Amino acid sequence: MSSIVLDKLRELGALVDEYMEEVLLRDTSGDFREAVLYQVKVGGKRIRPALTILSCEAAGGRIEDAVPVAAAIELVHNYSLILDDIIDRGELRRGKPTLRKVYSDVMAILVATHYRESIVQAINDTKCPVELHSLLATTLKRLIEGERLDILFEQAGRHEEYLIKHRYYNITLNDYFKMIRYKTAELMRASCLSGAIVADADNSIRKSLSEYGLNIGMAFQIVDDLLDIFGEERVFGKKVGKDIIEHKLGNIVVLLSLEELDEVEKRRLLGILRKDEVHDRDVREAITIIKTTTSKERAYRMAKEFIESAIHSLRRLEMTEAREMLEEIGYFIVKRRW
Ligand code: IPE
Ligand code: IPE
Ligand code: MG
Ligand code: MG
Ligand code: MG
Repeated sequence: MSSIVLDKLRELGALVDEYMEEVLLRDTSGDFREAVLYQVKVGGKRIRPALTILSCEAAGGRIEDAVPVAAAIELVHNYSLILDDIIDRGELRRGKPTLRKVYSDVMAILVATHYRESIVQAINDTKCPVELHSLLATTLKRLIEGERLDILFEQAGRHEEYLIKHRYYNITLNDYFKMIRYKTAELMRASCLSGAIVADADNSIRKSLSEYGLNIGMAFQIVDDLLDIFGEERVFGKKVGKDIIEHKLGNIVVLLSLEELDEVEKRRLLGILRKDEVHDRDVREAITIIKTTTSKERAYRMAKEFIESAIHSLRRLEMTEAREMLEEIGYFIVKRRW
C-alpha cells in the first residue's frame, strides 16, 4: 500500500481533526460531548479533507486558508455516515460499533443535526462563506437524492407501503451511475472544488479539479462496493456482505454479475436479495454465485477507467507536489483494502 499517501492522509488529517473537534464542541453541553466526538474519534481515512487541502495547494493557495473548509467537508461526510448507518441499520464502521449502536438511533439523529450546524459554523470561518454554503447545500441535496435512490434500489427488507410502491425492480448501469454520482462522487467533487475556491483559482482550474473529484468519487464508490463483497472484514472495518444483507441491487458487483448469469443462477441471486431476512449462509451462497462471473475484474477495470479520466483532468494544472499527490490518491483509491 502506498505509504506516501497514507503519511499524507495522516499529516493533513491531524490538521483538520484539531479544528473539527473545536467546532464540534462549540456551544455543546458537557454531557453531550462524548457522543458528539465519538464518530470522528473512532477513525476514518480523512481522504476528503486531504483532497480539499491538496486541491487548494495545487491551485496555488495556502494550506491555512483550506483548513476550515476541509474540516467542514469531513463533517459533511461524517454527518452522511451517521444518517446512512441509521438508514442501513449499520452496526460496524471503522472497525468499531456505529454511533447508533452505542448511543441509540435517537441520539444519533441529534448528533447528526449537531454536525449539520457545526458545518455552518466552520464555513462561517472561511474567506468565502456565501459561495461555500451554497456549494455544500447543493452537494448535500444531491447526496440525499443518492441515498433516496439507493433505498429504492433495495429489493426487500422495508415494509412501508410508500417504499414498496416506489421500489425499482430493474436497474440499468446508468441508474447505478446516477445513484453513486449523487451519493458519493458529488461530495468528492465538492471536496476538490472548495479547495480551488479558497485558493481563489480561475474557472479553468476549478473545472479541472471538479472533474478530477467527480471521477475519483465514482471509482471510490465502485471500490467500496467491491470491498463490501470481496473485502476482509478486519481490514475493511465494515461487515463484509452487508450490501447483500441490506438487499441492495445498487452494488456494481451484483449488477455486473446479473448481466452474465444464466436465468437459473440469476433467479437464485435475485431470490437471495429479495428474501425478507438474509442470513450468513445466503450471503455465502450469493458470493459463490458472484464468483462464477467476471464481475470483480470488470468492476475493477471500470474503477481504473474513472481514475485515468480523473488524472487526465489534472493536465491543465502546474506540476507541483500537491498535483502529484492528487495523482497518487487516485491510484490509492483502486488499491485500497479499506
Ligand atoms: C465510506 O467512505 C462511505 C462511502 C462513500 C463509500 P470512506 O471509506 O471514506 O469512510 P471513512 O471516513 O474512511 O470511514
Ligand atoms: C455510501 O453509502 C455513501 C454515503 C452517503 C454514506 P454506503 O451505504 O455504501 O456506505 P457504507 O458502505 O455503509 O459506508
Ligand atoms: Mg451504509
Ligand atoms: Mg447506504
Ligand atoms: Mg458501501
